[in-house]
Parts: sequence; structure tokens; C-alpha cells
Amino acid sequence: MRLNLGCGFNKSTGYVNVDSSDHCAPDIVHDLEQTPWPWADSSVDEIVMRHVLEHLGATTEVYFSVLREMYRVCRPDARITIVVPHPRHDDFLHDATHVRAVTLEGLSMFSRKNCEEWIAAGNANTPLAMIAGVDFDMVESEVTLEEPWKSKFELGSVSRTELILALKQYNNVAKELKAVLRVVKE
Ligand SMILES: C[S@@+](CC[C@H](N)C(=O)[O-])C[C@H]1O[C@@H](n2cnc3c(N)ncnc32)[C@H](O)[C@@H]1O
Repeated sequence: MRLNLGCGFNKSTGYVNVDSSDHCAPDIVHDLEQTPWPWADSSVDEIVMRHVLEHLGATTEVYFSVLREMYRVCRPDARITIVVPHPRHDDFLHDATHVRAVTLEGLSMFSRKNCEEWIAAGNANTPLAMIAGVDFDMVESEVTLEEPWKSKFELGSVSRTELILALKQYNNVAKELKAVLRVVKE
């Protein structure tokens, strides 16, 4: 089974399309903040969440409950594709239903391996994988740049070093973030 969660009007063939609102006539109407989700443990091969995770989990408790359900319903090695607006892009600010800033670094904190390495190194990072009871390994990540940065970087008038600095310093450099997570469980 493959799930397209928070499908909106972009429904995908071959997926169970799920949304909290019936305005887009999903296959299943379900509020993803309500747990447990209506799928059995380890029954899902793939989850796609495009522009959805930033709508979920205004509180840490609810955010963790969503991540726990993603982990619970997925089979070992399942893939979860997450696409979100970059939290420092205006797109993130405009939508009144955006409640959570999602970053690649933030998602990487839900990897047990990363947490164990940080603990061994004496780093102060909160071991979120252990606290939330999940384990996601980021196997792919992508940053979609906004113009004019995209063209300037492609043409070589902005170097990688300058781009990395700009991403830290300015708004509206990156438009979107994509992460593919592998579900690590027995
Ligand atoms: C920005 S739209 C993205 C729609 C689609 N994934 C796409 O890429 O076009 C966000 C969608 O998430 C849905 N959504 C928001 N909160 C939700 C929740 N708690 N449970 C399920 N769906 C939710 C909204 O109804 C909306 O259809």
C-alpha cells in the first residue's frame, strides 16, 4: 500500500489519497493529527507528503504523534517523501494553516544513528529519535532554489560557498525542501 497523505487536488494513481477535507474528494477523509491512523503496523510501502508536514503538529506532542504514526504504519525500509516550503521563504509565511517549520537538519534529528553519534561526541543535540520513538534515515535530500539565485548558481555567477552563506543569511533563497526518509526498523 502506498499513501499520498494530505493529497489535496493532486491525487496520485496507485496511492491511497488521504486528506482531512472532503473538498478534494480523497479516497479516505482523515485528520492526520488524530491518532491512531487507520492502517495496520508495518502495512505501508511508501508515504508521500507534499506540502503537508508544515500543516501538522503545532505542538511538539502532536508533531511527534504524527511522526510516530508514520513510523508505525510503514514497513521496514519503506520510503517517505516529504516536500515542504523552506521556512525562510515567503510561501511559508503566507499560509495561515502553516504551523511548523520543517528543515532537513530538523528531520535528520529523527535518526537514531545521528543521535547516537551526537551523544558519543558529547554534543548537546536533543536525541529526538529516542524521545519520539522513531528512526528515519535520510537517504535523499534536495533544496529547490528561488530566482534569481537558481539561475545565478546555474550560470556560475554565484559559487557554492556564496550560496551556502546566502541560505544562512537571507530569506527567499530556497523555495522548497525535499527529503526522502528510509524507515529503520526490524
Ligand atoms: C498545501 S495543500 C497540498 C496538497 C497536495 N499535497 C499538493 O501537493 O498539491 C495541503 C493539504 O493538506 C491537507 N491537510 C492539512 N492538514 C491536514 C490534516 N491534519 N490531516 C490531513 N490533511 C491535512 C489540506 O486539506 C490540503 O489539502
